Amino acid sequence: MTDIDIKKGLAGVTVDYTAISKVNPETNSLMYSGYPVQELAATQSFEAVAYLLWHGELPDAAQLAEFEATERANRALDPNIKQTIDLLPLEAHPMDVVRTAVSVVTASDPAAFDSSPEADTRKALRLLAKIPAIVAYDQRRRRGQEAIEPRADLDYSHNFLYMTFGEVPEATVAEAFNVSMILYAEHSFNASTFTARVISSTMSDLGSAVVGAIGALKGTLHGGANEAVMHIFDEIGTADNVVPWLDDAIANKKKVMGFGHRVYKRGDSRVPTMKAALDTLVEYYDAPQLGELYDTLESEFVGRKGIYPNLDYPSGPAYHLMGFDTLTFTPLFVAARIVGWTAHIMEQTASNALIRPLAAYNGPDERHIEGYVPPA
Ligand code: ACO
Repeated sequence: MTDIDIKKGLAGVTVDYTAISKVNPETNSLMYSGYPVQELAATQSFEAVAYLLWHGELPDAAQLAEFEATERANRALDPNIKQTIDLLPLEAHPMDVVRTAVSVVTASDPAAFDSSPEADTRKALRLLAKIPAIVAYDQRRRRGQEAIEPRADLDYSHNFLYMTFGEVPEATVAEAFNVSMILYAEHSFNASTFTARVISSTMSDLGSAVVGAIGALKGTLHGGANEAVMHIFDEIGTADNVVPWLDDAIANKKKVMGFGHRVYKRGDSRVPTMKAALDTLVEYYDAPQLGELYDTLESEFVGRKGIYPNLDYPSGPAYHLMGFDTLTFTPLFVAARIVGWTAHIMEQTASNALIRPLAAYNGPDERHIEGYVPPA
């Protein structure tokens, strides 16, 4: 074997420029178009942040009003989308449901293959508007409940929760949800975003790139971790069971979901903001046991392994308290990350180079089929 410097998992490899967001593990910071994400979470709506990520600037009042009006006008699902979802078994994973429904939404778009910035921005906003209806429709059908149509008098977060649970949420809950959507919206060249960029780099369409990204997000090493965190909480049960559970997990070299990050090694910059939102929910829903379990597992695991929580750690329990099914958590990540994916698809398209790395071959040496006679 020759001395080839393999970058397994592309760890540490810088493959392109991006103007969408900056992750700085040294300062533990994340900025969208230059704005620290915690400032955006404290002051902006998810709609305004989506506008920022697609246009590079926050909207003024008129731009935001127009953006919100378009988003509200695109929320309802056409009958063919509902029929497609109904064809899937109730046991289908909600990520597969979202992936399938998004595929139908994008394939039904008359401009499916138009990759101009205008067409892609319009398609991105259409997906932003419709994914909440898909997620809510699926959770309700699994619970045997009637679908609820969107309400144009409610903002994105209030409407999402209203369509899912049938009640307009209290401000505390909608604000925590808005914060989670902003924090999940974008994170540079993560696995699902890179998947979207690879697909776009072949000059494929936005719909195909988003569907591929959903597949990449589903895995437990990526977005699927917020669901996996809740399974761990269910398994542990109460704070006094953390130590024996962790002893066993560490002895058996099990990964503790919701901890660790490829880029941040000293803590995920989004966690303090989401933890503060979780704290408001723990108080609002009067769930001190869950708060205690969260804190105990964190301090025990960080103390023993020096591996810090990532965003999925506080967001999983937050979505649980809001009343979402555990299986719905990763589709909520899709609803937010659609913004980052589509921003990157447009950036990739604007200055494209086919993404096609090399591999070092380590299979058998050259050999031949017995009896094969090459043509003369
Ligand atoms: N639990 C236990 N051990 C861990 C964890 C964890 N959550 N994370 C890292 N480690 C250990 C690994 O076992 C490995 O130990 P070793 O060197 O003794 O073999 C070492 O730390 C390095 O871990 P890698 O997995 O090689 O590091 P990498 O940078 O590839 O991993 C990853 C990052 C995949 C996120 C990892 O930390 C992990 O699997 N975490 C759990 C899944 C998770 O929470 N994913 C969400 C990611 S963030 C997001 O999508 C919002």
